[in-house]
Amino acid sequence: MMRGISGKALVGVAALLWAQPALGQALSVVNSPHNLSASGTGSVRSTTEDQVCIFCHAPHNASPIRPLWNRATPVDAYTIYSSPALDAEPGQPTGSSKMCLSCHDGTIAIGAVFSRQTPIPMAGGVNTMPQGPGLIGTDLRDDHPISFRFDSSLAAADPKLRQPATLPHEIRLDANGELQCTTCHDAHNNVHGDFLVMSNNGSALCVSCHQMGATSVHEHRECASCHVSHGSPSGPYLLTHSTVGETCLSCHDGTDPHASNIRAQVSMPSNHETFSRVENTSDRRRNPQQSSCTDCHEPHTITHTEVQAPLVSGSLGAIDGVSSSGAPLQRAQNEYEVCFKCHAENSAVRPVVPRFANSTNTRLEFDPSAVSFHPVVAPGRNPDIPSLMPGLNTQNLIRCSDCHSQNTGAAGDMNARGVHGSPHRPLLNQRYATADYTNENPQAYALCYSCHNRNSILNDESFPMHRLHVVENRTSCAACHDAHGVSSLQGSRMNNTHLINFDTSAVLPNPDNGVLEFRDNGILAGTCTLRCHGVTHNQTAYP
Ligand code: HEC
Ligand code: HEC
Ligand code: HEC
Ligand code: HEC
Ligand code: HEC
Ligand code: HEC
Ligand code: HEC
Ligand code: HEC
Ligand code: HEC
Ligand code: HEC
Ligand code: HEC
Repeated sequence: MMRGISGKALVGVAALLWAQPALGQALSVVNSPHNLSASGTGSVRSTTEDQVCIFCHAPHNASPIRPLWNRATPVDAYTIYSSPALDAEPGQPTGSSKMCLSCHDGTIAIGAVFSRQTPIPMAGGVNTMPQGPGLIGTDLRDDHPISFRFDSSLAAADPKLRQPATLPHEIRLDANGELQCTTCHDAHNNVHGDFLVMSNNGSALCVSCHQMGATSVHEHRECASCHVSHGSPSGPYLLTHSTVGETCLSCHDGTDPHASNIRAQVSMPSNHETFSRVENTSDRRRNPQQSSCTDCHEPHTITHTEVQAPLVSGSLGAIDGVSSSGAPLQRAQNEYEVCFKCHAENSAVRPVVPRFANSTNTRLEFDPSAVSFHPVVAPGRNPDIPSLMPGLNTQNLIRCSDCHSQNTGAAGDMNARGVHGSPHRPLLNQRYATADYTNENPQAYALCYSCHNRNSILNDESFPMHRLHVVENRTSCAACHDAHGVSSLQGSRMNNTHLINFDTSAVLPNPDNGVLEFRDNGILAGTCTLRCHGVTHNQTAYP
C-alpha cells in the first residue's frame, strides 16, 4: 500500500495528478524534489524528460500495485552504523533502502534507468547525486541505522524502545519486519517536508519508537537539539557535533542567555573535561572518546527538580552510579554514587596532599565504617562540633559538590551549580590553601570557613591549640586534617579520629623513635608524636 497517494486506483490517481497538478500538489511527487523531470523545480532535474515516475519506475507497467523498479541495485559496499550502545545488528542495506540508495549513495547516475538505452540527460550535467544534504553516501556510520529487524526481542533488549506492534500506522516496517529508509520516509509524499511519513514536530516521529524518558527542561524536549538523522559529525549516537561535550556546549557556551555557560567553567584550570583519559570508568557502554557531560548527566531525563543532600539533583537525570557498597546501580539515588563510578577503586587521580593514610578511594574514605569522615554518605561520628555555622548540625549530610563545584565569585554564569571547573584545585568551590607556612586569613581557608565558623576555630573552642598552630605557626588545616575521611582499612579509632591524617610532606616521624602518631584520649584530649616545623613532639598532650 502506498501512503502519499491512496494506492487503490493508482493509475487513476497518477492520471489525476498529471491532469490537475494543483489538486495533488502537496501530496504528489510532482511538486517535490523527487520530480526529476523537466517540470521539476529542484536543482536536480532533466533537460528533456517529461515523465515523473520514470526515474524510479518502469513505465507502462502492467501491475499498478507493484510498479517495476527501473534502476540498478547498488553494490554492497557500505560502511554500517555502529555504536557502543546499539543492540540492533544492522548489516548491508536491504529491500527498499537499496532503492533509495540507488540515487542517494552517489554511486549510480541519477538518469541511468533500465527503460532507456542512454542515461536521461540532467540539467547542469549532473551525473550522480551532487554534494549536499541529498548525498547520503556509502558511509552509513553517520546515519540512523537501517535494514535490521525491529522486533519484540529487540525492544525487550533495549527498554527505551517501544514495542514495534504499537507503532502508529504511518510508520511501517517492511515485509520482513525490517526498519528501512521507507519506515521514516515516503518517496511520494513531501507534505511534512523531507518526505517524512509523519510530522516530526515535537519529535513525534522519533518518540513513536524511542521512549527516552521524561524531561522537563524545555530545550531538551526536541531530539533535534542534540541529534541528526543523517550526516552526524559524531558518528555513534548521531549527535549534532563531533563529541558529547561539543554538542552540549554548542548551547551552554554563553550564546544562549537561558543556558548556563558551562564552557567557561570547563575552561578553568581544575576541571572535568579530561574524562576521555579514564578507562573502565563504569560498565556503561560508551565511546570513551565521546564521554564527558553524559558521565554525570543522563541527557534525556534532565529536570529542574531541586532536592536535598545527598540526593542526586534533577539536573543529572536518571544517571547510573556505583553504590556506597561498590555495586553498580542502573540509577543513582545519591550524588556521591555518580562520583563513585570514577573516584573509588579505579580512581585515575593522584592525591593532592600526600598523607599518612594515602587514598583516592573516596568510597572507602566516606564509608560509614570509616574511622572519621565528613558526613557525605552517613552523619558524622562526632556529636560535638562547636564550629558548625548556623543552619548546619551534626545530623546533616553534605554533598561532594558542596566542596567541589564552581563558585568563583566572578559575575554571571560562573556561579552556576555543578562539578565542572574551578580556579581552585582540586575543583574546589572556594580557596583552600594546603601549603605549609600559609598566613591565616579568611580567604586562605575559605572552603572550611564556609561551614566552620572561623572565630570558633581560632578561639580554640574544640582543639585548644588551633590558634597556636594555624595562626601563629602558619600550619594549614591540611597538615593535620583530611578533608574526606580515613577508611577503616587504613586508619584506626585510636589514631585517625577527627579527620586527623597528617600531610607527610609537612609532618615527619619523631626522629628519636620513628613514630608519627596522633592518639585520641577521649573527649577533647589527645597526644601527638611527630616532628613539624623543626619541633619534635613526643606524646605531647592536650588539653
Ligand atoms: C524518487 C523515486 C520515486 C519516484 C519518482 C516515484 N516512486 Fe513510486 N516508489 C518508489 C519507491 C522507493 C517505492 C517502494 C516503496 C516501498 O517499498 O515501501 C515505490 C513504490 C511505488 C508503488 C507501490 C507501492 C507499494 O507499496 O508497493 C507505487 C504504486 C508507486 N510507487 C507509484 C509511483 C508513481 C505513480 C509515481 C509517479 C507519479 C512514482 N511512484 C514515482 C520511489 C519512487
Ligand atoms: C532517482 C533518484 C532518487 C531515488 C531513487 C530517491 N531519491 Fe530522494 N532525492 C533525489 C534527488 C535528486 C533529490 C534532491 C536532491 C537535491 O536537491 O540536492 C532527493 C531528495 C530527497 C530528500 C530531501 C527532500 C528535501 O525536501 O530536500 C529526501 C528526504 C529523500 N530524497 C529521500 C529519499 C528516499 C527515502 C528514497 C527511497 C524511498 C529516495 N529518496 C529515493 C533522488 C532520488
Ligand atoms: C529513523 C528515521 C529515518 C530513517 C530510517 C531514514 N531517515 Fe532520512 N531523514 C529522517 C529525518 C527525521 C530527516 C530530517 C532531517 C533530520 O532530522 O536530520 C531526514 C532527512 C533525510 C534527507 C534530507 C537531508 C538531510 O540530512 O536533511 C535525505 C536525503 C534522507 N533523509 C534520506 C534517507 C535515506 C536514503 C535513508 C535510508 C538510507 C533514510 N533517509 C533513512 C529520518 C530518517
Ligand atoms: C521506526 C522506529 C524508529 C524511529 C521512527 C526512529 N528510530 Fe531511532 N532507532 C530505532 C531503533 C530500533 C534503533 C536501534 C536501537 C538499538 O539497537 O538499541 C534506533 C537507533 C537510534 C540511535 C542510535 C542509538 C545507538 O545506540 O547508537 C539514535 C541516536 C536514534 N535512533 C535516534 C533517533 C531519532 C533522533 C529519531 C527521530 C528523527 C529516531 N531515532 C527515529 C528506531 C527508530
Ligand atoms: C540534550 C541533548 C539530547 C537530547 C535533547 C536528546 N538526546 Fe539522545 N543522546 C544525547 C547524547 C549526548 C547521547 C549519548 C549518550 C551517552 O553518551 O551516554 C544520546 C544518546 C541517545 C541514544 C542512544 C543511547 C541510549 O540512551 O539509548 C538514543 C537512542 C537517543 N539518544 C535518542 C534520542 C531521542 C529519540 C531523543 C528525543 C526524544 C533524544 N535522544 C534527545 C543527547 C540528547
Ligand atoms: C539546543 C540548546 C541546548 C543543548 C544542545 C543542550 N542544552 Fe542544556 N539547556 C538548554 C537551555 C536553554 C536550558 C535552560 C532551560 C530551562 O531553563 O528551561 C538548559 C538546561 C540544562 C540543565 C539544567 C537543568 C536544571 O534546571 O537544573 C542541564 C543540567 C543541562 N541543560 C545539561 C545539558 C547537557 C548535559 C547537554 C548535552 C547532552 C545539553 N544540556 C545540551 C539548552 C541546551
Ligand atoms: C566518568 C568518570 C568521572 C566521574 C563520574 C566523576 N569524575 Fe571527577 N575526575 C575524573 C577524572 C578522569 C579526573 C582527572 C581530571 C584531570 O586530571 O584532568 C577527575 C578529577 C576530579 C577532581 C580533581 C580535579 C583536580 O584538579 O585534581 C575532583 C575534585 C573530582 N573529580 C570530583 C568529582 C565529583 C565530586 C564527582 C561526582 C559529582 C566526580 N568527580 C565524578 C573522572 C570522573
Ligand atoms: C568537606 C569538603 C569536601 C567534600 C565533602 C569532598 N571533598 Fe574531595 N577534596 C576536598 C579537598 C579539600 C581536597 C584536597 C585536599 C585534601 O586532600 O585534603 C579534595 C580532594 C579530592 C580529590 C582529588 C584527589 C585526592 O583524593 O586528593 C578528588 C578526586 C575528590 N576530592 C573527590 C571527592 C568526591 C568524589 C567527594 C564525594 C564522594 C568529595 N571529594 C567530597 C574537599 C572535599
Ligand atoms: C559543606 C559544609 C562543610 C565544609 C565545607 C567543611 N565541613 Fe567540616 N564538617 C561539616 C559537618 C556537617 C561536620 C559534622 C560531622 C560530624 O558530626 O561528625 C564537619 C566536621 C568536621 C570535623 C570533625 C570531624 C570529627 O569526626 O570530629 C573536622 C575536623 C572538619 N569538619 C574539618 C573541616 C575542614 C578542615 C574543612 C575544610 C577543608 C571542612 N571541615 C569543610 C561540614 C563541612
Ligand atoms: C563530574 C560530574 C559532572 C560533569 C562531568 C558535568 N556535570 Fe554538569 N552538573 C553536575 C552537577 C553535580 C550539577 C549540579 C547539580 C545540582 O546541584 O543541582 C551540574 C549542573 C549542570 C548544569 C546546571 C547549572 C545551573 O546552574 O543551571 C548544567 C547546564 C550542566 N551541569 C551542564 C553540563 C555540561 C554541558 C557538561 C559537559 C561539558 C557537564 N555539565 C558535565 C555534574 C557534572
Ligand atoms: C595541628 C593540627 C591541627 C590543625 C593545623 C588544625 N586542626 Fe582542627 N583539629 C585538630 C584536632 C587534634 C582536633 C580534635 C580535637 C578533639 O576533639 O580532641 C581538631 C578538631 C577540629 C574540628 C572539630 C571540632 C570543631 O571545632 O568544630 C574542626 C571543625 C576543625 N578542627 C577544623 C579545622 C580547620 C578549619 C583548620 C584550619 C583552619 C584546622 N582545624 C586546623 C587539629 C588541627
